[in-house]
Amino acid sequence: MKRVLCGVFCLICASLAHAADVDSLVSALTHREKVRLVIGGGWGSLFSGFNIPFCGKQQVPGAAGVTHAIERLGIPSVVMADGPAGVRIKPRQHGKTAYATAFPVGCCLASSWDVGLMEEVGCALGEEAAAYGVDILLSPGMNIMRSPLCGRNYEYYSEDPVLTGKLAAGMVRGIQSRGVGASIKHFACNNQETGRMHNDSQVDSLTLFDIYLKPFEIAIRESHPWTVMSSYNLLNGERTQESRWLLTDVLRRRWHYEGTVISDWTFRRRTRRQIEAGNNLMMPGDALQRMDLKRAFKEDAGGENMLDTCVKRVLQLVKKVQKAREERSTGRPRLEEHAALARRAAAESFVLLRNEGSTLPVSPDMRIALFGASSYDMVAGGTGSGHVNAAYKVNLSDVTGSSAGERLKSEYRRWAKGNKHRYKAAGFGFMQKYLGRGALREMPLKQEWIREALDSADIAVVTIGRQAGEGRDRERSDFSLTVEERDMLRAVSGEAHARAMKMVVVLNVSGVIETMSWRSLADAILLVWCPGQEGGNAVMDVLTGAVNPSGRLTMTWPMRLEDLPSTRNFGDGDVTRYEERDSVGYRAYIASERIPAYGFGYGLSYTTFSEDTLPDGGILVRNTGSTAGRHVVMWMNDRCLSSFRKSRLLRPGEEEVLRE
Ligand code: BGC
Repeated sequence: MKRVLCGVFCLICASLAHAADVDSLVSALTHREKVRLVIGGGWGSLFSGFNIPFCGKQQVPGAAGVTHAIERLGIPSVVMADGPAGVRIKPRQHGKTAYATAFPVGCCLASSWDVGLMEEVGCALGEEAAAYGVDILLSPGMNIMRSPLCGRNYEYYSEDPVLTGKLAAGMVRGIQSRGVGASIKHFACNNQETGRMHNDSQVDSLTLFDIYLKPFEIAIRESHPWTVMSSYNLLNGERTQESRWLLTDVLRRRWHYEGTVISDWTFRRRTRRQIEAGNNLMMPGDALQRMDLKRAFKEDAGGENMLDTCVKRVLQLVKKVQKAREERSTGRPRLEEHAALARRAAAESFVLLRNEGSTLPVSPDMRIALFGASSYDMVAGGTGSGHVNAAYKVNLSDVTGSSAGERLKSEYRRWAKGNKHRYKAAGFGFMQKYLGRGALREMPLKQEWIREALDSADIAVVTIGRQAGEGRDRERSDFSLTVEERDMLRAVSGEAHARAMKMVVVLNVSGVIETMSWRSLADAILLVWCPGQEGGNAVMDVLTGAVNPSGRLTMTWPMRLEDLPSTRNFGDGDVTRYEERDSVGYRAYIASERIPAYGFGYGLSYTTFSEDTLPDGGILVRNTGSTAGRHVVMWMNDRCLSSFRKSRLLRPGEEEVLRE
């Protein structure tokens, strides 16, 4: 009875709050309540359920954070969860399983160059978030890939601002079309993980606007994200969360952003300064912050006005959430449908880097000898907040059928079950138990295992694995191959080529790696990034030609790390000077003689295309080969990307006109 009455009371309050406009709600709030509203509900939900009283709404265990409910006025709590590759919540909620789909990671999806696909994946993410009671999905991550070594590049899209902005806008539109808010992050210049809480990114104004702020501006203009997440780092000597210039002058005045600014998940900071700067909601929030704020604003009329501005922004978000909750569909998420989408999205995003003598595609009944630890334990995603608790993952070894090398398979299985030190740490060490564990190190191979496997095979496939994550940048050595990986490539290619057999290398990596020293050993190289839970299936789709690869690189693959000027100033924990200015990624090559291993926009196909410019500026794309495929057109201005479009699936001989 008590519960029923409580429910009815909450319903009445909720409808009262719904009816009231934001201004009258602000005047009805006490100072204490205002402070509660702008400081989130606290830490704790990362590893366990966090008990916060909700008004008419249940908690979501494993969500990253919540806002406080003010039950007296029917203001509900807003639930926020990560992240960019899938909804990160506990896989068990209130006695029921609550798995989320692990989609391909950001850098993988982005390689599709397909805004429509981003939107489609966004819709699925939004639907799953809604189904599990999440109001704000902390996605997409959209910092520029300034250096290949940034540990969170796997969550990000590109080294190019236009590409990043347009793809992020597609993702936001998708998520929000399902009544769930997006959070574009991390605003701004959070381009490394080393010293991420206190590092100062020093960037000149021109570079800042042209490279690092532009993607956010595009996403805001084209998709109106409900929230923007201010980053941990400092920008030109000032914490971004305390920068009135960034959060008010640029974001509000220049770009007319109307949504809510939330802080990245920070420990106690100078809360009053955050409020003054225009950081509306302090997440995840703690009691000390509330005390700071009460003290700071006591008997200070100016302060109270600023607090009211933040409260309004939070209430505007609450209102959007309330309205969306009424309209959005709930019920079980359509996991099977989303798994199929994850598979398709991954296959559409893979980048074919090399295909000598049309090695690929292979016939589906070809017998494959599978090498490389990650063939047996694929790296589906990254570690940290971008990790997803998926129900399963499909390894390449699960789908290569009754292929060759029983002995090899059992050796790899034994290796994968070995002690945890066989996994190379990625991201925060202490979080790995919960949030992903790193790629399996390579197993030293015996020549007889290789021979035995190839004896009953038609082709050799070797997977190289890498995982990266939040809280730690990649070491320089992560860019190069390990001794075991080199030995494996040399030994397998030697044995395979001696039998006139081909060797395909699958790059199951979270970031750019070195390829010059070994690529000639491979007949084909397929870059599959961290392809999500359906990885194995998607890789087979492309290897066998069920899907024709149409992905393109969204970042430069340098021959040496030193070829990118950012390498000189990367990974310092205190101050990072962006001395290369706008010479980021492919822009660094424009005025130089150097050439990259694989350049921005690179990607092969199983067919060929022609491009003809029409008098009106449109580009006529024609499939001139013998397999159906998709083609990306890039428009460049001063050798920098100004626009791009991807064709539909064109059958041989078919044409399509693409316009900027
Ligand atoms: C990350 C954010 C994430 C948040 C909540 C932070 O450590 O930087 O990207 O959304 O945690 O989990």
